[in-house]
Amino acid sequence: MLRKEQNELLTQTAPGTPMGRLFRCYWIPALLGDELPENDCPPVRVKLLSERLIAFRDTNGRYGLMDEFCAHRGVSLWFGRNEQCGLRCPYHGWKYDVSGQCLEVPSEPEESGFAKKVKLRSYPLVERGGILWTYMGPPEAQPPLPEWEFIMVGPSHRFTSKRLQESNWLQAMEGGIDSSHVSFLHRGDLDSDPLFKGAKGNQYNLSDPRPVFEVVESPGGLHIGARRNAEEGRYYWRITQWVMPSFTLIPPRGNHSVHGHFWIPIDDENCWTWSFDYHPTRELAAAEVAAMRDGKGIHVRTAPGTFRPVANKDNDYLIDRAAQKAGRTFSGVEGIGMQDASLQESMGPVVDRSKENLVSTDNGIIMARHRLLRAVKAFTDKGALPPGVDLAHQKVRSAAVVLPPDVPFTEGARDALIARLETAPASI
Ligand code: FES
Ligand SMILES: [Fe+2]
Repeated sequence: MLRKEQNELLTQTAPGTPMGRLFRCYWIPALLGDELPENDCPPVRVKLLSERLIAFRDTNGRYGLMDEFCAHRGVSLWFGRNEQCGLRCPYHGWKYDVSGQCLEVPSEPEESGFAKKVKLRSYPLVERGGILWTYMGPPEAQPPLPEWEFIMVGPSHRFTSKRLQESNWLQAMEGGIDSSHVSFLHRGDLDSDPLFKGAKGNQYNLSDPRPVFEVVESPGGLHIGARRNAEEGRYYWRITQWVMPSFTLIPPRGNHSVHGHFWIPIDDENCWTWSFDYHPTRELAAAEVAAMRDGKGIHVRTAPGTFRPVANKDNDYLIDRAAQKAGRTFSGVEGIGMQDASLQESMGPVVDRSKENLVSTDNGIIMARHRLLRAVKAFTDKGALPPGVDLAHQKVRSAAVVLPPDVPFTEGARDALIARLETAPASI
């Protein structure tokens, strides 16, 4: 449970808010690389942390992310002409470069130097691992570029998608660290989804609906261990990673690729759900990539030309009551990603956490909130750099292991929780 003020503190990320300032300590994913596929391609509107921005790629391949609105009289630069190393407002021709600097005000005499004095707010935009990342904090505090394992492996080892989620970022992220819902909500999919089925661990998941959670702080966030019974008194552990502020890694299954998410606020009532799959030691098969594109696993089918899911709140997520009754899906909604999104959106745009009744399987969520509250306070009061900015904090892996009953998962899976390129994940 959170008090109303605490709930507001963690869910509001506009400029100047405490959580907004915290989010602005990190490099965050802004666009998929192929949203700006070539030099001088059309600009793209991007809303992040309640700021309306425009992204473009200039004649020389440089990326820019800046205020969406022209400094003259506020026209959206989405209508802009992307030409000769700059974006030109079509209303009166003011032109900006990738740093937001105004290059030309054609109606003014050039010798007046007026253009030099005009600059739009802008942020760096850098491609890494097929994603365009931005950093929206003060330039003097800009950290090194991110090194999450999924962006450090080769392009044939990974697949990334993003979708609009019509809820606040925190309730979406909380779904990513709540592994107890898998035995219920996703039970129909563990044995049928091509990106999940066939793993031995699935049987432990399905046969023990009462996992015991052990949550341990990690340098960047939390290791969230969910313990279920395996054979001969041993334990099946699924260890989820959460790294601040909103990176989550789902424990692997068999030789399937590893799934994970980033949850990035668009504004306080919407977020981007970034979903990725990767495998450190093998390429993804064509059939796997085809399944991901088709909305299987944690990915979702989106309406062509948009990032809004085909199943959405306007069509009741295409709920199939017959499938629900027959148990083919537990909720009636098809697909793991939409099962999560539909229920998280159903809570309303910002869930009222003062009305919850939390239980022991919510320990990961409880500790994540505390860690966020602590980090916000330390940053606001003392300027302390929050967890997850340090590159070492990003080198984590999720794991699925079977251990003897007397071995804590932090010992039995110690090495498995560290990302070491070209070593296989610990998976069952
Ligand atoms: S509004 Fe953009 S140039 Fe006038
Ligand atoms: Fe889920």
